[in-house]
Amino acid sequence: MSSKSEVKLPAHVVIFPIPAQGHMNSMLNLAHLFCLSDFHVTFIVSEFCHRLLLKNTSVPATFAAYPGFHFRIIPDGLPDDHPRFGAQAGGVSPAVIHNMVPLFKKMMADKDLLASPHRRPATCFVADGSFSFAADFAEENGLPLLYFRTPSAAYSWAFFQVDDLIQAQEIPIKGKSMDGLVKGIPGMEGFLRRRDLPTFFRTDDANDRLLQSLAATTRQIVRAQAVIFNTFEDLEGPILSAMLEDLPRIYSIGPIHEHQKSRIIEKKSEASIVAGNLWAEDRSCIDWLNAQPARSVIYVSFGSITVVTREQLMEFWHGLVNSSHKFLWVIRSDFITGEDGGGQIPAELIESTKEKGYMVKWAPQEEVLNHPAVGAFLTHSGWNSTLESIVAGVPMICWPYFGDQTINSRFVSEVWKIGLDIKDICDRLIIEKAVREVMEVRKDEFLERADGMAKMAKKAVQRGGSSYTNLDALIQYIKSLIT
Ligand code: UDX
Repeated sequence: MSSKSEVKLPAHVVIFPIPAQGHMNSMLNLAHLFCLSDFHVTFIVSEFCHRLLLKNTSVPATFAAYPGFHFRIIPDGLPDDHPRFGAQAGGVSPAVIHNMVPLFKKMMADKDLLASPHRRPATCFVADGSFSFAADFAEENGLPLLYFRTPSAAYSWAFFQVDDLIQAQEIPIKGKSMDGLVKGIPGMEGFLRRRDLPTFFRTDDANDRLLQSLAATTRQIVRAQAVIFNTFEDLEGPILSAMLEDLPRIYSIGPIHEHQKSRIIEKKSEASIVAGNLWAEDRSCIDWLNAQPARSVIYVSFGSITVVTREQLMEFWHGLVNSSHKFLWVIRSDFITGEDGGGQIPAELIESTKEKGYMVKWAPQEEVLNHPAVGAFLTHSGWNSTLESIVAGVPMICWPYFGDQTINSRFVSEVWKIGLDIKDICDRLIIEKAVREVMEVRKDEFLERADGMAKMAKKAVQRGGSSYTNLDALIQYIKSLIT
C-alpha cells in the first residue's frame, strides 16, 4: 500500500541489463522511453561499462536531464584489463554476472537506497531476458517482473522448442545434413535449416550444458508478468502470435532505437537520442562517406563480439577489393584473433585499403547506415545491427558469427528477402560474388524491398502503429502495478 506522500509519485522501474554492448544500448533506449513517459528509473550498470559510457558517450548527460533517472553502479569484480566480452556463454564473461548479481540483490534489500520521499519503492523489475536469477528473485521479493529480450522473438521461440526437438531427434544435429529443414518449430517450418538454428544447437549431445542452460533461461520468461521484445508485428507477427500460447502478456515495442526518436519528436522534447556505445566513435568516416557517390559503399561491421582469424580477415579483404566496390570497414582493436598476429591489422592491408576504402575502430553505425553513400551492409547479423539496417532501408549480406545471428540471417534472406546469407563460408570468391549481387545484379530488387521494410518499421513506432500502441499499453500496465 502506498503511503500518503507516495500517492502522486510516478511508477519506478528498476532495469538491469547484461553489461555488454548489444544489451546495454537497447535497454538504455527502453529506459529513455520510460523517462519520456515520466517514470522514475533505476538503471543498474557495471562500474566498467559506466566508465566507458562516461568516456565515450553523452548518455550520462542525456539522463541527467531526468531527475527521476538514476544509475546504480555495481563493480563487476574483475581487474580492468580482464577480458569481459566474448562469444562464450552468450556474450559476457560469466564472472561478471557471478560477481554482480549478489551485489544487486544486496542493493535491492536496502529499501532506503531505492526509495525516498520523492521516489516510490520499485514498482517492477525489468530484467534482461538472459538473467536466469531474476524470476526467483522477483518471486521471493514480491516484485512484479518484466523480462526484456534483446534478441529476436524467433531466437527465443527456437529455445522454447528444445525439448520437442530432442524428442523428435532433431537434436543432436551432429551427423545430419546441415541443409536439411527443421521440423517442429511452429512459424519456421519450410525455410529454417539446421544450420540456421542458434549456434548453441550445434552440438552432438542433447544434454549439452550450455544448450540446456540457455533453454532453461529462455523458458524462465514464462514466469514473468510480461515480456518485452525489441521487434515489431510486421516483422515477426507469426512468431509473436505463436508465443502467445506460452506468454499471455507480450509487448513488442521495436525497433526501439527508432521508437525513442519518434517519441522525442512527438513530445517536442529537447532530449538527445541515447546511443549507448561503449567504444569511442571515429566520426572521420562520415567525412569520407560525404565524398562518395550515392549507394556506392558497402559498410562492413561485425558488432562488438565477433572475432576473426587473420586468414578470415584476408578472405574478407580480398573479396571486398575484388568486388571493385568501395568499403567502410569497422575493425575493432580486438577483432583479429589467433597466434599468427592476433590483434594486428596486416600492414599491407592498411596501405592498400587507402585507395579502396576506409577503416575505423568503431563507427557511428546508425548514422553510417542512414548515409546516402551506403548501398549495403556486410554484417554479423546481431539483432541491433539487423534492426538498424532495416530502419535505414539498407540491404544486408549476412555472415553470422554466433548465437542468435544464424537465425536472424535466415530471416533476412528467406523471409524478408532483403539480403543474402553466406553463413559458414568465409571465401573471397563467395564474398566478392555476394557484394556484386547486392550492389549490382539484384540491387534494385533488394533496395525496393528494404525500402518497403523500412517504411513498415517506421510506421510501427508512429502513433497508431503496432509498437506505438503496445508501448502505450505497457506504460498503462506498469502504472496498474502501483500498489
Ligand atoms: C550481441 C548479439 O549478436 C545480439 O543479437 C544480441 O541481441 C546482443 O548481443 P552484438 O554482437 O554487439 O550483440 O551485435 P548487435 O546486436 O548488432 O549490437 C551492436 C551494436 O553496436 C549496434 O547497436 C551497433 O549500432 C553498434 N555499433 C557497432 C556501433 O555503434 N559502431 C560500430 O562500429 C559497431
